[in-house]
Amino acid sequence: MANTEGDHLAARDGEGPVAFKDAVDVEATPARPPTAHTAAAVSAARVTLQGQQLVRVNGYWVFDSWAQGVIAMRRGGLVPRATVGDVLLASLPKSGTTWLKALAFATMARRAWPPASPDHPLRRLNPHDCVPLVDSLFAVGRDKLLDELPSPRLMSTHMPLSLLPATVADGSSNTKIIYICRDQKDRLVSVWHFRKRNDLPDLSLQEVYESVCNGTCFAGPVWDHMLEYWRASNADPGRVLFLKYEEVLQHPGNTVRKLAHFVGQPFSNTEEEADVVAEIVKLCSLENLRSQKVNKEGIRDVIIKFSHDSYFRKGMAGDWRNHMTPELGEHLDSILCDKLDGSGLTI
Ligand code: A3P
Repeated sequence: MANTEGDHLAARDGEGPVAFKDAVDVEATPARPPTAHTAAAVSAARVTLQGQQLVRVNGYWVFDSWAQGVIAMRRGGLVPRATVGDVLLASLPKSGTTWLKALAFATMARRAWPPASPDHPLRRLNPHDCVPLVDSLFAVGRDKLLDELPSPRLMSTHMPLSLLPATVADGSSNTKIIYICRDQKDRLVSVWHFRKRNDLPDLSLQEVYESVCNGTCFAGPVWDHMLEYWRASNADPGRVLFLKYEEVLQHPGNTVRKLAHFVGQPFSNTEEEADVVAEIVKLCSLENLRSQKVNKEGIRDVIIKFSHDSYFRKGMAGDWRNHMTPELGEHLDSILCDKLDGSGLTI
């Protein structure tokens, strides 16, 4: 049930979210293991992808090291705020999460931080330090930091809708969700490059491909992940906004307007005339984000350490063609076509 706890951290009168790292002291907060939950919640099924153990939680594959945290989060650990609802960004990894974080943060915080301001948080913080990944905070037991974030809270998750707290999943809380999906062929190529850039145990492209096809990749099966959010967005478009990476690439300005409208902060005529939308698009562009010192040098620590620069690569649609045969591409497309059949979702 949504409660008002945390609402004492008053909403900042239209000023939008505060960057996570500006609001809390992550390093000063010791990590603690999440409370152990019944083993029954985690099925005995396990797969190992080159040293990384994945376990099955409610039909989805989750890192072994994250499972207890995910269960704790779902069982009420993440308490949605009532008066000023939270905004949760959801995605499978490598679907454009970093970009969405930047766009949503810049749009929602534009009153406090005009996008052209030289000291904008996105010019000194990685987008992941502006918008926290709740799954990883629960995994390392730093979830209490979420209580310190002033409203409106802007947060993210890689979990499917059914692994979120019940009131978020069923729509009875005031939480709004923005989901981004991506062509799975490009996504898996991106996963493969990301692993290489971070010196993770070698996983061939074929292994990544197979894990997507047979549903055993992290947060997979991917079709169920996408379908849950797709159906929720069809049932209640005011609660769940469903975006596609490829469409954002084509029309970033329209996406920014859509985001603003969805979170109840549409652009005024004055803002339109002042080209604020274009400023946000420019601030969040791959070129601009990649060129920031913090994104060239920093490290993100979510149990595994990832370099900030590894989140920015080509940022295009269709790169899979440089890595896969057309036959492999068609095979994955046909699996997805089958799984998504009748839903109206095409990717
Ligand atoms: P590629 O590896 O295909 O280039 P995530 O943020 O979910 O981890 O996804 C990373 C993917 O999004 C990478 O894709 C990355 O290059 C791309 N990306 C990151 N920032 C972007 C931006 N500002 N604009 C477009 N694409 C971006």
